[in-house]
Amino acid sequence: MRQTLVAGNWKLNGSIDDIQTLVKGILDGMSGANGKAVAVCPPYVYIPMVSELLKGSEVGLGAQDVSEQSSGAFTGEVSPEMLKEIGCQYAIVGHSERRSIYGELDTDTANKYKAAMDSGLTPILCVGELLEERESGDTENVVARQLDAVIDAVGVEGLAAGVIAYEPVWAIGTGKTASPEQAQDVHAFIRNKVAQLDTVVAEKVQILYGGSVNGGNAAELFAMEDIDGGLIGGASLTSEAFLAICTA
Ligand code: 13P
Repeated sequence: MRQTLVAGNWKLNGSIDDIQTLVKGILDGMSGANGKAVAVCPPYVYIPMVSELLKGSEVGLGAQDVSEQSSGAFTGEVSPEMLKEIGCQYAIVGHSERRSIYGELDTDTANKYKAAMDSGLTPILCVGELLEERESGDTENVVARQLDAVIDAVGVEGLAAGVIAYEPVWAIGTGKTASPEQAQDVHAFIRNKVAQLDTVVAEKVQILYGGSVNGGNAAELFAMEDIDGGLIGGASLTSEAFLAICTA
């Protein structure tokens, strides 16, 4: 049985005040999460503060990105070791916004995945197709290519050290959620692809869905066989909206 994971990706949002209120609200309402694992991914600068606020709680902590480098002359980068030291368990890699806005390539994502994994973080690998790729029937090819880059870097066993998040780009921040069946189809494709290489890893790896998840659609999505939770953007920015998903 795979545990359900609900992770909030706060993206470029918040302030000290907002985030203190948000974290307190989440901690106050956590008792309803019945068995689900919950994590939050603040902007880098707030990670130490959130780490303090979360001390003694069950809520996990992650970063939204991570450097493939450990140290050295890499201006603006934050290493996996630094994230570990400050209390992170997770690092998101290959989010579609990193790929589309910042030009991150499949190989960059794969290198970040490997660096995160090697330092003992759990990478959350985002994959997903653009609207035009879906419309031209390329969803599976795109997701396979994104996965293959990571498998080439860390082997299929490496996938067991991370979490996969299927985030169709057309569903991110648009209010247009993939239907439970559309999402399940891609999740099953991912799991079958992994199973062709290693059935044990395929059975074990958590595959989250992301893209306009909210309190109204989470239960239906999470009920699908191969959907093991969600990566939540907009609805992770207030404790009410986030808890509605955690308790779904
Ligand atoms: P939304 O939930 O705002 O659609 O964002 C999803 C996402 O990108 C999470 O990483």
